[in-house]
This record gives sequence, C-alpha cells and structure tokens, in this order.
Amino acid sequence: MALLHVLQFPDPLLRKKARSVVNVDDNVRKIVDDMFETMYEQVGVGLAAIQVNIQQRIIVMDVSENRSQPYCFINPEIIIREGVQYETEGCLSFPGVFDKVERAAKIRVKALDKEGKSFELDAEDILSICIQHEIDHLDGILFVDHLSRVKQERARKKLEKMRRKEY
Ligand code: NI
Repeated sequence: MALLHVLQFPDPLLRKKARSVVNVDDNVRKIVDDMFETMYEQVGVGLAAIQVNIQQRIIVMDVSENRSQPYCFINPEIIIREGVQYETEGCLSFPGVFDKVERAAKIRVKALDKEGKSFELDAEDILSICIQHEIDHLDGILFVDHLSRVKQERARKKLEKMRRKEY
C-alpha cells in the first residue's frame, strides 16, 4: 500500500469530473487500499479519488469512532433522497475549514463493492452526509460550493492565512 498526496483547495484538479469505473480489477482494488491508508493516516472520515488526482468514481469512508467500519463505493449513485439535515462538515482538501451544509437526511445509495458486485445501502446521519459530500467530489463539487458567497470568502481567507503560517 502507499500513501497518496491529497490535493488542497484551490487546486484546479479538484474541479475535474471522475469517469465511471469500467472494470473492478486489481488496479482499482489497489487504488481503494491506498485511499483507505491515506484517509486513515490523515484522520479523515472520507476520501474521493478526485482528491488524490485519480479521475475515477471511487469513494471510501469510515465514520465510526474507533475506525473499524470501512465503506468503499465504486460508481456510487444516490437513488433515493429524503428530508433535510444541516450539519457541520470539513474536508481533507480544506484543512481547518468547517461549516454547516444542507444535505438530504436519508439516502439510498447504489454502488459496486471491491469485488465489482452491485449493492444498495440506506444511510442517515453522518454516513449519509459523508456519502453525499464524497459523491460531490466526483463531480468536481466542493462542500464550500454549498455555502453563501460570504462564507466561501471567509473559508478562502482562512486557508490563505493558515498557509502563510506554514511557510
Ligand atoms: Ni471532501
């Protein structure tokens, strides 16, 4: 396994759109393993392939407290959305930035697993949020895109300030 470099906002590669995975083969499984390793190492709850500069429709996540419930979705598609929730989100591509985003409360997602088998999953609460956030990444959409202009500007300034401190 290998750690992957996570792209940081405002890298234009984060705006790319991912292609569907045609064959779930060993290559794809290696990407999934590397994404999990990277996500756990960075203490994130979710990661989309776009964030590691791989333009394929692959997302991984683990929203459990003891980091013991890995989920991998290949070619994920939300087929049912219900209700609304408004919770604080963060993103490995926006270190230090957190804000509230409106999402569907409950979803049903359809995807392929690591073996290429189709499955459906009902999700709510943080798992539902995470799936919606990561699927957005595959379409080049970032969580700050859901915020007001004023809040987007605030997030951008905060990131710039943090970066200046790093150098
Ligand atoms: Ni993210």
